[in-house]
Amino acid sequence: MAKKPSSASMPSVLLVGCGKQGSTYVDGWLKSGIDPKLIAGVVSSAKRAKELKARYPIEVYAGLDAVPAAVKPAVVMLATPGTAMDSVLAQCRRFVPQKSVFLTVVAAVNLAAHESGLGDGAAVARASSNVASLVARGCFGLFGGRWLGEREARLCDQVLAPIGTTVWLDREDHVDLATAISGCSLAYFIAMAEGLADAAIAAGLPAEKATRLVRAALAGAGECIHVRPDEPMPQFRLRLTNPGGSTEAGMNVLTRDSRLARLMAEVVDAILKRQADRWKPKK
Ligand SMILES: NC(=O)c1ccc[n+]([C@@H]2O[C@H](COP(=O)([O-])OP(=O)(O)OC[C@H]3O[C@@H](n4cnc5c(N)ncnc54)[C@H](OP(=O)(O)O)[C@@H]3O)[C@@H](O)[C@H]2O)c1
Repeated sequence: MAKKPSSASMPSVLLVGCGKQGSTYVDGWLKSGIDPKLIAGVVSSAKRAKELKARYPIEVYAGLDAVPAAVKPAVVMLATPGTAMDSVLAQCRRFVPQKSVFLTVVAAVNLAAHESGLGDGAAVARASSNVASLVARGCFGLFGGRWLGEREARLCDQVLAPIGTTVWLDREDHVDLATAISGCSLAYFIAMAEGLADAAIAAGLPAEKATRLVRAALAGAGECIHVRPDEPMPQFRLRLTNPGGSTEAGMNVLTRDSRLARLMAEVVDAILKRQADRWKPKK
């Protein structure tokens, strides 16, 4: 299993946007033992900056204008709403000449729009993301823009390694696919847990016991995949499935007429359509 890097190997990062998504990165970095001095955050309001400073041992600025000129982050990570990007990118231009790398998880804005907002020479990587960064188990599907070289890609890896797994992709539209299968996956996972618990409750198990059992079982299942990264998933699953046993009876229902595969394909398709809608140019 990959060893988490020590704090010494993480470059400095300015996290622009510490909301639902951004704050999971801060939680993950701190959980991984990263030196808080390497992390600074930016939010839009002074009230929120104060709240975050009370919660985390990091510097937090209210607005990009409040970031002192002496702050020269190796990586500027963007986790603001898509609607704020015009002003955020314009305000981030100051970091381009000092060779900061831009790492963006803003789903609704493509690389070309980032590069045009930041100006020539801006090294940008776009990434899918998910909230499991909270427990340092996030995953990021990355694609680099035209000015992102090996040095810059390495910086992105170094910033993300303490909070999850990075997978560099071959095409920008694969970032949307990565979002579809990993960015939104926690919600699917919880929906599956709810479905299992509801089925058990309907069959007579008290709700509290059903919920506790399902949460523990799926958390354990996730951990099992995590600790066996090299075992192909079908092989792993078949190893758990005794011919004629209970697991096989359940799997036969899940896979009948390829219904699970068809359902997952529909889910991915719906997300890709949603992403395409968000990318339509403004009128
Ligand atoms: N939530 C997810 O699961 C998820 C997953 C993958 C990617 N994303 C992407 O992550 C981005 C953020 O999503 P979110 O759910 O974290 O949104 P959010 O909870 O609304 O957080 C947005 C953050 O951006 C800050 N902000 C807004 N305008 C700003 C500005 N002009 N300058 C500096 N900071 C500004 C906000 O400041 P305040 O705190 O002061 O309001 C807040 O901290 C989105 O683009 C989304 O596509 C989200």
